[in-house]
Amino acid sequence: MTQAAFDGYATAYDSWFMENNQLFESELKLYKKVLGDVRDKRILSVGCGSGLFESMLTDAQIEGIEPSRDMGEIAQKRGVEMIQFGTIEQVELEEAAYDVIYFNGSSSYIEDLTAPYEKCRRALKPNGRLILLDVPKESGFGFMYLLAKQVGTFDHDDLRDVLPQLPYPLELCVHGIWHSTEEKIDVLKAIGFEQFEFYQTLLNHPMYANEQVEEVIEGYKQGGYVAIIAHK
Ligand SMILES: C[S@@+](CC[C@H](N)C(=O)[O-])C[C@H]1O[C@@H](n2cnc3c(N)ncnc32)[C@H](O)[C@@H]1O
Repeated sequence: MTQAAFDGYATAYDSWFMENNQLFESELKLYKKVLGDVRDKRILSVGCGSGLFESMLTDAQIEGIEPSRDMGEIAQKRGVEMIQFGTIEQVELEEAAYDVIYFNGSSSYIEDLTAPYEKCRRALKPNGRLILLDVPKESGFGFMYLLAKQVGTFDHDDLRDVLPQLPYPLELCVHGIWHSTEEKIDVLKAIGFEQFEFYQTLLNHPMYANEQVEEVIEGYKQGGYVAIIAHK
């Protein structure tokens, strides 16, 4: 993805979550669940965007990297300590420095995940955790975004009456490269991770995802938003 792909979309991105507030709360529950106790931990958010999720944590100091200056400057204002405006591929990370490194939705904009995840593994302390939260390619959301990307619109006969009221901004779908959860597990195993935990939310069809705040359950085969925790 080019450095500027999210530039100009910070407001659209945040507004979408604000308008889909039940969906946001479901994702936030998953985010908080997998981060766990954040006090006194050194934590890095890769592709922190506008720092919307980070701003919901009251007791954490989160470091961030973000290629979009637009998004990253908002994250800074929200308290994220930006270590670099750039991509994970460009940044140099200190070795064995972090308790947690996470990608919240950012893996879905990175084609080759191996080198970025490997870099993060080296930057984790022993017993550190790499956490990947995403829309899985195989989920209802994944199918919907891929179809919209292919046809270049949400306004398509095949999508009529089956879409959420406010679908994700099309401009951001167009840049997405969704990966399946198992594809990411394979990458993680290939670079040496052996121990995993999985949690998921957004179990309802996308069309109904904003009707209620959903629970977080274990596993990865049902959810529209899935977290992989890989233990170093
Ligand atoms: C879906 S947004 C998620 C933003 C934020 N983490 C959140 O949850 O609100 C994906 C983010 O990944 C960033 N991104 C895309 N490619 C990246 C890369 N190669 N390295 C780091 N971040 C990247 C984008 O600029 C964007 O802010």
